[in-house]
Amino acid sequence: MSESRGIASRAIYRRSAGSDQEAIRSIEALSYRGAGDGLSEKILEAPDRALSFVAEIGGLVAGHLLLTRIEGPDRALALAPLAILPDWRDMQIGTSLVRHALASARDDGWKAVFAYGQPDYYCRFGFKSHLADPADTPFQGPRFLALELAPGALSGWSGPLNFPEGYRAISDAIRR
Ligand SMILES: CC(C)(COP(=O)(O)OP(=O)(O)OC[C@H]1O[C@@H](n2cnc3c(N)ncnc32)[C@H](O)[C@@H]1OP(=O)(O)O)[C@@H](O)C(=O)NCCC(=O)NCCS
Repeated sequence: MSESRGIASRAIYRRSAGSDQEAIRSIEALSYRGAGDGLSEKILEAPDRALSFVAEIGGLVAGHLLLTRIEGPDRALALAPLAILPDWRDMQIGTSLVRHALASARDDGWKAVFAYGQPDYYCRFGFKSHLADPADTPFQGPRFLALELAPGALSGWSGPLNFPEGYRAISDAIRR
């Protein structure tokens, strides 16, 4: 195992707490060039809408991932933002954080996840563009992807995807 992969396996992946808010602000500000200041805050103020996860290394919160409930197919989530502190990138921490969050969402009965991002990155988790194609959303295009957490969850589905109030800042930042 390389040293960097070792770091990822020693990290703790957990739900975020209120006390992580400052660290999350800082990660987003460093990752989204100004647009990230307080990016997740509106969503995190409504915790019933969000599953929020962090990666912690030796007490340092080094990464954050947000899954937000959206209206569309049954029990669907949007994945964004995902960000790792610059000094901790390319160590598989992002990959491990996404895997942890998806497994946790699956365990909680969520059935599908949509993401907007690099297909080269998200394909490692099983995200596919064709699963997202039937969604009616401004994100539509080759970078708009979906993953079934429950087999067949998106089979035969098409229609609008409605993102909650507070998601606009996130969507603007990730599409830059
Ligand atoms: C994208 C990001 C979350 C990846 O986290 P990470 O911990 O550095 O990623 P990992 O170490 O788990 O994975 C590294 C792999 O991802 C690839 N990768 C990293 N950023 C990528 C990108 N933007 N597009 C495609 N692949 C990317 C690397 O080439 C590497 O590939 P390999 O595993 O085949 O060697 C991190 O670079 C980041 O915070 N970027 C700024 C914010 C951002 O762009 N977020 C994603 C959009 S919501």
